[in-house]
Amino acid sequence: MTASLAGTEMCVFDAYGTLFDFNSAVARHRTAIGPKADALSDLWRAKQIQYTWLRNGMAAYAKFWQVTGEALDHCLATHGIADPSVRDKLMGAYLALDPYPEVPTMLAKLKGSGVRMAILSNGNPEMLDTMVQASGLAGHFEAVLSVDAVGVFKPDPRVYRLVETRCGMTSGKVCFLSSNCWDAHGAAHFGFPTVWINRAGAPDDRLPGTTVAELRDLSQLPSLLGVS
Ligand code: LAC
Repeated sequence: MTASLAGTEMCVFDAYGTLFDFNSAVARHRTAIGPKADALSDLWRAKQIQYTWLRNGMAAYAKFWQVTGEALDHCLATHGIADPSVRDKLMGAYLALDPYPEVPTMLAKLKGSGVRMAILSNGNPEMLDTMVQASGLAGHFEAVLSVDAVGVFKPDPRVYRLVETRCGMTSGKVCFLSSNCWDAHGAAHFGFPTVWINRAGAPDDRLPGTTVAELRDLSQLPSLLGVS
C-alpha cells in the first residue's frame, strides 16, 4: 500500500463523475435529443464546472442546481434545442444519476472492513440527497457534505476543510477520491492523501498538489487500501 494511505480511516468521495455518472442524464434521453446528445453532454459538464470556477472568481456563489440549469440553458441554445420538455427531462434525470457499475460492490467492501465514508460535493444538499437516496447507496455514507455550507465551490480550501469540521477527521486519516483531475489536485494541495480516478485515461493536469495514486476506476480501491 502507498505509505501515505496507511493511516486511512475515512474515504471521502467526490460525487459527480466519481461515484455518479453525469452522462447518464443525457444517455437516458438520447432519443429526444438526437444526434447531438454526446456533444451536449460534454459541453453541459464543461460549462457547469467552468461556471463554478467563474462564480468563485466573482464571489457570486449560487446553488449548484441553479448553475447546472444555467449551464444546460447555454448548451441547449448552442445546439439549437428549443423544446422545453428536453430541459425538464434532463434536469429531472440529474436528480437520479446512475452510480458507476463498480460503485455498489466497492462501497460494500469498504463498509464491511470498517472504513468510514462520506461524500464531499459541489452539489447542494437538496439535489445530492435526492440522488444518493435514489441510488439506494445512502446507508454507506455517514455524511453527505455540500459546499453550500461554506458558499463557495471547489477547489476553494474552505470546502475541503468541511471534512475536518464536520467529521472530525484530520487530513492524514482521509483518503480523498475524485475523477475530476482539478478536484484531485485541489484536495491534494489542501493536504488530503488523494487518489485520482482517471476514468478517461487523460493526461495529468499541471496544477498544485500531488496525488498519491491513480486508478482507472473505483474497483481497485479496496485492494489499494489493503481491504480484500
Ligand atoms: C462534485 C463535482 C466536482 O461532485 O463533480 O463536487
